[in-house]
Amino acid sequence: MRHMCALLVATAITASACQKTQTPTGGTEGAAPVTQAALVERGKYVATIMDCAGCHNRGSFSPKPEEGHLEGGTIGFEVPGLGVFYPPNLTPDAETGLGRWTEADIIKAVRTGQRPDGRELAPAMPWHAYSALSDEDAKALAAYLKSMPPVKNAAPAPGPKEKAPRPYVTVVAPDGH
Ligand code: HEC
Repeated sequence: MRHMCALLVATAITASACQKTQTPTGGTEGAAPVTQAALVERGKYVATIMDCAGCHNRGSFSPKPEEGHLEGGTIGFEVPGLGVFYPPNLTPDAETGLGRWTEADIIKAVRTGQRPDGRELAPAMPWHAYSALSDEDAKALAAYLKSMPPVKNAAPAPGPKEKAPRPYVTVVAPDGH
């Protein structure tokens, strides 16, 4: 039992020591910039492992994805019965990107598929899986998207496949399926 207690105390000390190293040091009151920078850095990591660039990037599906670019994909996704959906521009450009969206709007869309105008995003955008994103990581992700340089690039609007303006991926079921 004594050993157990010693272990717990040691763990508590280690934990608090770790916390201290993460606290911004050397700043004056309200060292917000450091915290914001850390948040954005975390968001970049979250965006990378969630592969936003796998779709929202002009190099998606090519051997040369443009790292760190999220100004929209050129390859669309056909969702049978719904049409073709192109991954839109996620940079904060007011006209063609998410410039007019709040961070809360972004988090809602990523986790629930609800756009601010009420339209539900097609499931080609994997929001069902992203509903498991924690509050902390969702905030970091939104902060990262807002920190990107705005780029003007309008992705094609969703529409019927007969009118698709750019290439898209689709599924062809073999006979009998
Ligand atoms: C497998 C492809 C894919 C991945 C991966 C993906 N998206 Fe999407 N995303 C889409 C598509 C396609 C749409 C358009 C859906 C529609 O219009 O209904 C979309 C739409 C969105 C929208 C709505 C934008 C608008 O203008 O309506 C946001 C926000 C978004 N994605 C954010 C993200 C973020 C952040 C990530 C990474 C965490 C991500 N997406 C990963 C394919 C993807």
